[in-house]
This record gives sequence, structure tokens and C-alpha cells, in this order.
Amino acid sequence: MTNENFHYATRRYVNKIITGQESGLKTKYLNNYVNFVRKYVKEGSKILDLGCGAGLSSSMLSKCYKVVGADLSKPVLNYAKKRFKNVKFQIEDARKMSFRDGTFDAVMACGFIEHINEVENVLSEMLRVTKKNGYVIIVSPSWFSPFRAMKAFLTPKGHETIGRNRLQIIGWFFKSLYYTFQKPINPNYSFRNPDIFGEELVGDDIDMVYIANQYDLKKFFEKRGCKVLNTNADTFAFSSIPFLAAWLGVVAKKV
Ligand SMILES: C[S@@+](CC[C@H](N)C(=O)[O-])C[C@H]1O[C@@H](n2cnc3c(N)ncnc32)[C@H](O)[C@@H]1O
Repeated sequence: MTNENFHYATRRYVNKIITGQESGLKTKYLNNYVNFVRKYVKEGSKILDLGCGAGLSSSMLSKCYKVVGADLSKPVLNYAKKRFKNVKFQIEDARKMSFRDGTFDAVMACGFIEHINEVENVLSEMLRVTKKNGYVIIVSPSWFSPFRAMKAFLTPKGHETIGRNRLQIIGWFFKSLYYTFQKPINPNYSFRNPDIFGEELVGDDIDMVYIANQYDLKKFFEKRGCKVLNTNADTFAFSSIPFLAAWLGVVAKKV
């Protein structure tokens, strides 16, 4: 990301993520995340919720698991620590974590990987700290999905990430079709360079850098010898249709 140095630690981002969480706006989406995780990871497991932000997902997961919530943003984690006293939170840089190899039964992240430049670094770290036969689970909006562009075209919601007017959204729609068809043969990760300096909407994925998609992630885990059990977060609406899936949910078993 250019222009700003780790903007997740800036006041405007911290305010945004905390207000979003407190207003209840995030509960439904995080419920879908937790329900997806629960399909694979057995109760009582030791898990890492990476890029946990203001801590709500870690708190929800803590009802079934022994959770560590980790994030690089100190002010956001300070808030999480005060708000959810029964959960363990820890500052970690996902690119180089302090945990030993094989610490967790499962490592998961929601709405996180699309904010990362060094995708392979972070995925390798997630795999490293997972036990053998454990799971890495990545849930993320799939902005590759033509469904997102169609939805953005019909409702004002979501315009900001993929276009600020109808013409830009139509442009993104064709781009998403192109991406979807070329992705299975194109080994490169697709990035965008958001200019978020002075941007009020920060936090609504306008700061997305990596255009996350199930094809890259599946390929990465298979290359590392993992068994990929799912690619779509089917607890989210419309996400069981692979080509249209609005939410990806990659589940890799470390064998
Ligand atoms: C969009 S927020 C998502 C927060 C939460 N998972 C949710 O879904 O509400 C992305 C989070 O990733 C964190 N993050 C970004 N880069 C990171 C890194 N290198 N290591 C750890 N956390 C990072 C940010 O601080 C931010 O809290």
C-alpha cells in the first residue's frame, strides 16, 4: 500500500472498525464466518484468529474454541483487550509470527488476506504455525465474482470498492469476467493499488490490495501438499455457486 504507513493503526480506521463492530453491522457476517469454521474444526481446538481487528470474531469463536486473536494494529487490539476480557489477544505481524511451528490445531482469517501485499509470505506463515492434520481457513469477499459487480450496479452499497459510478462498475464487471476466465491458467496474483490518502471510506474494502480469489489460494495450498477441502464460504448467501461465489472460503488441511 502506498501513501500511508500501516493505516490500520490510524485514528480514522480504528474509529471506523470499532463503530462498525459496536453498531452490530458485523455480527451477521462474522456469524457466517464462525459457522463456516465450525464445519471443519472440532470444539475445544486451539485456534488462531489472524487479523482479528477489534476482536468480535475471536470473542464469538471463544464460545467453542481456545482462541488467540492476533493483529498488527496496536490501537485496535487495545480496544479488543478491554472489550473482550476473556479472550487472549496478541500483537503479531502475519508476515513473521512469533509462534512456534505447529502451535495451533487451526489458523483462520476473515476479511484479512485481501489487505495483504505479501500474500505467499502470510499463507506460508499460517501453514507453518498449524499442526499436521490441522486446518488453514481463509474467508474473504471474492471481488472477482461478477455477482459483486452486478449487486453494486443495482444497489448503491458496495460501489466504493469497485467503482464510484455506474460506468466504473460496468468496467469492473467486465474485468471480473476476464479475471474469472483467465485465472485458472494465470499463475500470478492480482493486486490493485488503492489511493486511500484522505479517503473517508476507509474500512469498506476501499483499502483492498490483493484481489483475493479461490483459484490462487487453492493452487498455493495444493503446491504445499495440502488437501483443499472447500473453496467457497457456503455459509454466506450465494456462495455455494463456485463461479459466482461472493465469499471465498478456502479450507486447506495440512497433511
Ligand atoms: C479489514 S480488517 C478485518 C478485521 C476483522 N477480521 C473483521 O473481519 O472484521 C483487516 C485487519 O488486518 C490487520 N492486518 C493487516 N496487515 C496485517 C499484518 N501484516 N499482520 C497482522 N494483521 C494485519 C489490520 O490491522 C486489520 O485489523
